[in-house]
Amino acid sequence: MKSTGLLTLAAFLALSSASPSLVKRAAPQGVDISHYQGTVNFNTLVANGMSFVYIKVTEGTTYQDPNFSANYNGATKAGLIRGGYHFAHPDTSSGATQANYFLAHGGGWSGDGITLPGALDIEYGPSGSECYGLSASAMVSWIKDFSNTYHSHTGVYPVIYTTTDWWKTCTGNSAAFASTNPLWIAHYSSSIGTLPAGWTYTTFWQYADSGPNPGDQDEFNGSLQGLKNLALG
Ligand SMILES: *[C@@H]1O[C@H](CO)[C@@H](O)[C@H](O)[C@H]1NC(C)=O
Ligand SMILES: *[C@@H]1O[C@H](CO)[C@@H](O)[C@H](O)[C@H]1NC(C)=O
Repeated sequence: MKSTGLLTLAAFLALSSASPSLVKRAAPQGVDISHYQGTVNFNTLVANGMSFVYIKVTEGTTYQDPNFSANYNGATKAGLIRGGYHFAHPDTSSGATQANYFLAHGGGWSGDGITLPGALDIEYGPSGSECYGLSASAMVSWIKDFSNTYHSHTGVYPVIYTTTDWWKTCTGNSAAFASTNPLWIAHYSSSIGTLPAGWTYTTFWQYADSGPNPGDQDEFNGSLQGLKNLALG
C-alpha cells in the first residue's frame, strides 16, 4: 500500500468535518495514463479509491499507444469508468482525419454507463511547438473539425483537455466550445485558477502530474452519479 495520499487525507478530514473546503476531495478521483506508466495494477487503483481512468489511445495519425488495449481491458475488468484520449497534432492533418483515426483505434463511445466521452488532448507540443504554426482562427477551426467529426460518429462531444495558458495563446481564448464540450483543465495547484473563456466550471481537473497513483492525478467536478451520467451521455 502506498503512503498517505490526498484521498486518504481528504477522507479523514471529511470524516472529522475539519474543513468544509476540503470536502471537495470527496469528489470522484481518477488518473490518466499511457504506456509511460508501464503495467498498471487496476485493482490497486480501485482499492485506492479511484473511480475513473483516462487512457491514451492515439497521437496524430501515426501513433497508437502500445498499451492501450491492455490498459482499457484492465480498467474494464477492475470496474473502473474509463475513456480514451487523443494527443492532437494540428500541424500534421485535419481535425476530422485525426478524429477518425482516434475513433478507429479505440477512442469510440457508447452510452453504456462505463465509457467516458473521448478526450482531445490539445496543449503545447512535444518540442514546445507552441501553436503548431496555426493562427488562432485556424486552430479553432481545427478543433471544431475534430469535435464535430467525433460528435457525428458518437452523438457526444469530446472532452477538451488543455491548459488555460495554451488555450489563450493558441485559440485567442475562444469561447466557441463552452456550451458543447466538457472541459478538463490541467492546473497543478490547490485551486483551479482562471478557466478559458466561456466555461464557468471545469468537468475534470488534472491537479498534479504525479501522486500516490500512477499517472497524472485527476478529479471529477461532481458526484459519482454525475460521473456515471457523463458515461451515459
Ligand atoms: C506496454 O508496452 C510495452 C512496449 O512499449 C511492452 O513492453 C509492455 O509489455 C506493455 N505492457 C502491457 C501491460 O501491455
Ligand atoms: C464545479 O462545478 C460547479 C458547478 O457545477 C462550479 O460551481 C464549481 O466552481 C466547479 N469547480 C471547479 C473547480 O471548477
